[in-house]
Amino acid sequence: MPADALAELDLDAARAAVGAAGTLDELEDLRKRLVGKQSVAARVKQSIKDLPADRKPVVGKAVSEYTAAVTTLLDERHADLVPVEATGTALDLTLGGHGRMRGHLHLVTQCRRELEDVFVSLGYRVEEGPEVEDDWHNFEALNFPPGHPARAMQDTLYVNLGEPEQVLLRTHTSPVQVRVMETQKPPIYSVMPGRTYRNETLDARHSPVFHQIEGLAVDRGITFGDLAGTLEAFTSAYFGKQLQSRLIPSFFPFTEPSAEFSITCVFCDGAGCRVCSKTGWIELGGCGMVDPNVFRKVGIDPEEYSGFAFGFGLERMPMLRYGVEPIKTFFDNDIRFLTQY
Ligand code: PHE
Repeated sequence: MPADALAELDLDAARAAVGAAGTLDELEDLRKRLVGKQSVAARVKQSIKDLPADRKPVVGKAVSEYTAAVTTLLDERHADLVPVEATGTALDLTLGGHGRMRGHLHLVTQCRRELEDVFVSLGYRVEEGPEVEDDWHNFEALNFPPGHPARAMQDTLYVNLGEPEQVLLRTHTSPVQVRVMETQKPPIYSVMPGRTYRNETLDARHSPVFHQIEGLAVDRGITFGDLAGTLEAFTSAYFGKQLQSRLIPSFFPFTEPSAEFSITCVFCDGAGCRVCSKTGWIELGGCGMVDPNVFRKVGIDPEEYSGFAFGFGLERMPMLRYGVEPIKTFFDNDIRFLTQY
């Protein structure tokens, strides 16, 4: 047999012929021609014994692969043709099926997961705490003494449980810092996302229910510079371009020094536009170095360790990235909004 006999085993031609067979009879004729006793495949197989030793395995493998592939094609076509012959017509399955709507994650959840991924890649762990908190975690351990005016600024929603004003809907994610420091030893690198509540009137950027994400790093030798660098690293990663952070002195009872942090405006890159009120900066949240009083309350030695913390509204991030406003759009759950993201 000539070495190119294999060329006669043309799988494409066989596929076309099988596809063109319109009846079971035609198909059976084809089966004989393609893989039957008189077929080219059978002839090639016959010839193997006369081939040089090195060609035998090559040709043997090719012919058995060809035979298997053609047999599968024939069997599939057979299964197609049986119902056609039984009913006299092909079943028309092309008429409108019922598409199934698949849901997807809410934009806030997508943002939360994206930020979690960024922080995990920086070596942080993701932690969660309860939405119904006690006064100790939300205020007391965070260095808000009873009656301190900073408490009044938090517009707390209390829950009617136990002693008056002892159980509340957490006003920020900072109580999770306390829970983490109470149960873990430094080094601690954690992010704590979640839902928060304030007795606030709804406006374009504020909602009584919203989300925050908190960051906490406690280790030996943590500095304010680490804080600024971390803020730049994760905001740049989220917005996909290099941003700068700006820290302006502020006050929180649980950090000292404290700051409001801003990033370069993602719309005008700092040149000044409508979104940033011509300042070139966009304010995101609060931050600072963990106050030694907080360390003492949770049993961490402030002489040995230092740390930074920050917290900001989660909705702000997709609002800036996609220009979503007002904030209530996130909670209306209008399907026309949800399906865009
Ligand atoms: N918890 C503060 C707030 O909600 C933000 C903050 C977090 C400030 C961490 C400092 C450190 O306003």
